[in-house]
Amino acid sequence: MEQLKRIGVLTSGGDAPGMNAAIAGIVKTAKYNNVEVVGIKYGYRGLLSNDMEVIKSDQIDDILNRGGTFLGSARCLEFKEPENVSKAVQNTKDKGIEGLVVIGGDGSFRGARDLSLAGLPTIGIPATIDNDISCTEYTIGYDTALNTVIDCLDKINDTMRSHNRCAFVEVMGNKAGYLALEVAIACGADSVLIAERSFDIEKNIVDVIARKYPDKKYFMIIVSEGVEKTMLKSTKEIMDETVKLIKEKYNIELDAKVTVLGHIQRGGKPTYKDRVAASRMGAHSVELLINGTGNRVVAINNGKVVDYDILEGLNMNKNIEDELFMLTKIISI
Ligand code: F6P
Repeated sequence: MEQLKRIGVLTSGGDAPGMNAAIAGIVKTAKYNNVEVVGIKYGYRGLLSNDMEVIKSDQIDDILNRGGTFLGSARCLEFKEPENVSKAVQNTKDKGIEGLVVIGGDGSFRGARDLSLAGLPTIGIPATIDNDISCTEYTIGYDTALNTVIDCLDKINDTMRSHNRCAFVEVMGNKAGYLALEVAIACGADSVLIAERSFDIEKNIVDVIARKYPDKKYFMIIVSEGVEKTMLKSTKEIMDETVKLIKEKYNIELDAKVTVLGHIQRGGKPTYKDRVAASRMGAHSVELLINGTGNRVVAINNGKVVDYDILEGLNMNKNIEDELFMLTKIISI
């Protein structure tokens, strides 16, 4: 088999810190193996509109430490149409691209699988701050987001303490509670609500606060955005219900504030962990393509870089650890 000469790379879905490091890892591993890399702009959209060009070495010299993605990213719903998948395969063939790496979340991997089945060997690299891709313990961007959120929570805690207030902080994670759970532990939150575990506002917030009051008069409640997405209850509604109930049941006047952290969680310089994970996964993806393998998703499990068939990878199970959830209860004492 003749070695391939040119591959493509794109970033798709919500960006994540470390995507640039993954691109740099791909371009350097490719160069080491005499393979050229074409950068495709704005995810699958660029594949359809032919917005792509060869990445030159100087373009990736200083991207390893930068947040975001220099290729741009997008969510491209049209890519679900089979005729668009065929069009993309034809566009890549016309450019001499013989393999593709897609850096993104699980939505992006469905497109990667369709491309592989349509004749373009494609590899997925998991990058999302949500850490919600079932086949891997770790997704690029998660550690940076954890550290950003922890920094924000520490700051919010400072002002809550000064004013004897209660913060209700909504954190990202899509429908998954990993981010919420780990930051709650790292910041010693009084309560955390995630979509994966049922909760009761009276038992899980009101009684917890009342038990500590008046020895402690400032509180931190973390709410995963998945609660609103799956249980249709907003963080503001949860706060209002808490304030009402705690007054009725314990006669406590709670001065509460909502903060929705939003997109600050997706930005910033990638941490050491994200740079190394991204570089390792990027290198592995190129090795797979060079060895003639497509339709794989790269993962890190037990500290090792591994890969799975895309469909099998997407169908694996990943659950919230009971031990972690229990710990949030213990530390909220
Ligand atoms: O998947 C990453 C993520 O940041 C989720 O945590 C969040 O629900 C979503 O993307 C936000 O997407 P957008 O940037 O399109 O609003």
